[in-house]
Amino acid sequence: MTDIYSLWPELNWIQDQSLKEKTSKTWQLALEKSVLSAEDLQHIPFTLLCGPGLKVSFMDHKRAVVHIARESGLKIKEFFGKELPVNMDVLISGAMLCDVGKLLEYELDEKGRAVQGNYGKLLRHPFSGVSLAETCGMPPEVCHIIATHAGEGDMVKRTTEAYIVHHADFMIFLPFKDRLK
Ligand SMILES: [Fe+2]
Repeated sequence: MTDIYSLWPELNWIQDQSLKEKTSKTWQLALEKSVLSAEDLQHIPFTLLCGPGLKVSFMDHKRAVVHIARESGLKIKEFFGKELPVNMDVLISGAMLCDVGKLLEYELDEKGRAVQGNYGKLLRHPFSGVSLAETCGMPPEVCHIIATHAGEGDMVKRTTEAYIVHHADFMIFLPFKDRLK
């Protein structure tokens, strides 16, 4: 069994004990179902969409999204207070789980490299992530963040927490994918 707290020390930022446990449980379930180990996540690139030269690891990117989302949430609370309430527990849990479904997207090819498998092609990680999270009893506010964090979410209205996670994720994805040099 993986020690999820060593993979994700940010779990300790979640105040609600039940939400913290469900967040950890969702990661545990994803690792049980995945061809990847927690160790692999420290090495594989965070996306398959930025070409073979990308060196940023899955965990470095995911943890950075959580840190940026948390800082953003705190600033929004500081400047806008009750005008734009942010539930920090929901925000942090959603940021930690937005890409958890990616663990089901990968298969290993004959050389042991992580590639997108058939399941991942049919059900991108916003969908598989919701499935994992709901299995672990995650509330709809957090599932909404997972569901809407990527391009699919442009089709629906997002909560404030979902907007924050979406932008935190994309601000450190798009410049890797396609920036003016
Ligand atoms: Fe994603």
